[in-house]
Amino acid sequence: MRKLLLIGIGAGDPEHVTIQAVRALNQVDVFFVMDKGPGPSDLTVLRREICERYIEHPRFRFIEVPDPARDRTAEMYRSAVEVWREQRSVVCEEVMGRELGEDECGAFLIWGDPSLYDGTIEMVEQIVARGHLQLDYEIIPGISSVQALAARHRIALNRVGRSVEITTGRLLTETYPGTADDVVVMLDSKGAFESVPADGVRIYWGAYLGTRDEILIAGDLADVSDEIQAARRRAKDEKGWLMDTYLLRRRLGPAEG
Ligand SMILES: C[S@@+](CC[C@H](N)C(=O)[O-])C[C@H]1O[C@@H](n2cnc3c(N)ncnc32)[C@H](O)[C@@H]1O
Repeated sequence: MRKLLLIGIGAGDPEHVTIQAVRALNQVDVFFVMDKGPGPSDLTVLRREICERYIEHPRFRFIEVPDPARDRTAEMYRSAVEVWREQRSVVCEEVMGRELGEDECGAFLIWGDPSLYDGTIEMVEQIVARGHLQLDYEIIPGISSVQALAARHRIALNRVGRSVEITTGRLLTETYPGTADDVVVMLDSKGAFESVPADGVRIYWGAYLGTRDEILIAGDLADVSDEIQAARRRAKDEKGWLMDTYLLRRRLGPAEG
């Protein structure tokens, strides 16, 4: 049966790659590459660097999987994403059926960890559910950008006995402050932290975490919000793309902490 590995490769630092991931990388015959969004060439380069650094045989190959265009104008964000994911899984199924031999091992190298804001697990489940391609698949966890952010700022994500929420920039504006005291925000193209009431909130922000372009800023939101927006604009102008993540930490009242 064809084998497929979904390997978390960390958030940008090749040293995020775990020993389990290195073992998995060394089993792979075909790496399927399906990049989307900002910085595809930088991310593809890093994936190749990881393979060259950790794989001890020359037998692996890379196959590009064409990424179907997503309708970014659609009013219903959720259904547009679902349609696009279904199309991706059909394209992937075709390419894997053609390029991966019956006894071979294929892999997707997943940015960060496969469990966080990544559609690959769902896509593979769709392929398996259709039943045309027999696949045995396994997931290898990776260091996510959230863990990288916490480590670089030398903080824990939650406070003693309190909750932490992981959300998107799109949702932050609608839900903040919800029930969590600490909120991690990903996939924020606009800087949604500007839209939340800043009083009593600290921000721990990081861009390009784990890479040589890493930027870190922390402080009271009211004080550093403009500085972060300026850093985001500069970075976008220089590199053409930006990946950032941040934690918003609400000051606890005397009865809470
Ligand atoms: C599609 S999600 C993938 C998340 C990934 N699976 C993970 O575990 O980090 C992309 C988002 O992750 C965050 N991200 C990924 N890599 C990052 C990095 N090196 N530095 C800062 N944020 C990063 C950003 O919020 C970005 O918009």
